[in-house]
Amino acid sequence: MAPNDSEYEIIRQMVYDRSRINLGKDKRELVAARLGKRLRALNMDSYTQYLRFLRTPSGQEEIQNLIDHISTNHTFFFREIRHFDYLREEFLPEFVQSWVPKGHRCLRVWSAACSSGEEPYSIAICLSEALQSHPNVNWELEASDISRRILEKARDGVYSQERVESLPLETIRKYFQKGIGSYAGLYRVKGEIRQRIRWHLLNLFDSSWPFSQPFHVIFCRNVMIYFDRPSQEELVSRLTLHLHPGGVLMIGHSESLSGVRHSLKAIHPAIYRKPL
Ligand SMILES: C[S@@+](CC[C@H](N)C(=O)[O-])C[C@H]1O[C@@H](n2cnc3c(N)ncnc32)[C@H](O)[C@@H]1O
Repeated sequence: MAPNDSEYEIIRQMVYDRSRINLGKDKRELVAARLGKRLRALNMDSYTQYLRFLRTPSGQEEIQNLIDHISTNHTFFFREIRHFDYLREEFLPEFVQSWVPKGHRCLRVWSAACSSGEEPYSIAICLSEALQSHPNVNWELEASDISRRILEKARDGVYSQERVESLPLETIRKYFQKGIGSYAGLYRVKGEIRQRIRWHLLNLFDSSWPFSQPFHVIFCRNVMIYFDRPSQEELVSRLTLHLHPGGVLMIGHSESLSGVRHSLKAIHPAIYRKPL
């Protein structure tokens, strides 16, 4: 069952107002596939009924579910490996050599649209490995997403075998617990890594973000693609404010800041640096 033109327009506007996700005119079938499940779970047989429910006081909570169902959460461990290579081979050595002596003892990183957690766990593994020989350097990792459902999954840190099997065996052994009994076939990120991450249910367009300290590195990857140009510009400008001078912003390799006004310097594909 697909929404008709006017129902689709109302859903499109609601999703935009809440998340800035810009559903094109051609996404009606996708919306039907994703929201159809939600309607069935609520025992509703029309979008008119669902939209009426969304307008009631008890339907206000439902907007979160609407966003949970509409958002695209595709991700995987060490996606876009060049970002992790850059972090390990260029940024971290520079951090240890140049930033630490200037008093930056704690590296602050934010995974700003973390989906089901593969991105922040990949960052955490990368930092643990690269900084293990520098006990004087601490690190903090914040991870956030607009979707409550996907953030709960991220926080649990439980993945099927097929999601972890692209990782080297050594990484799996060191950082994952293998499920047994009714958990056979599942892998859970070890507590020592999970507990290093602070999780936030956060809309990137909320009027304020819960961070008082700036970041050295922000991963904001494969989310900007869902926003229109003015929203991308607003977001990049706010992310820039939350970076230390010299800090870096990583965006998805299929995203681009061309046409977006910003004050960052492109240093590698999909890596931008805030000028000193
Ligand atoms: C395709 S995933 C990208 C995950 C990861 N960054 C990566 O590159 O693999 C996009 C994520 O952005 C989140 N998202 C969409 N709009 C958002 C918003 N306004 N604020 C915060 N997160 C948002 C979605 O819930 C989804 O989990």
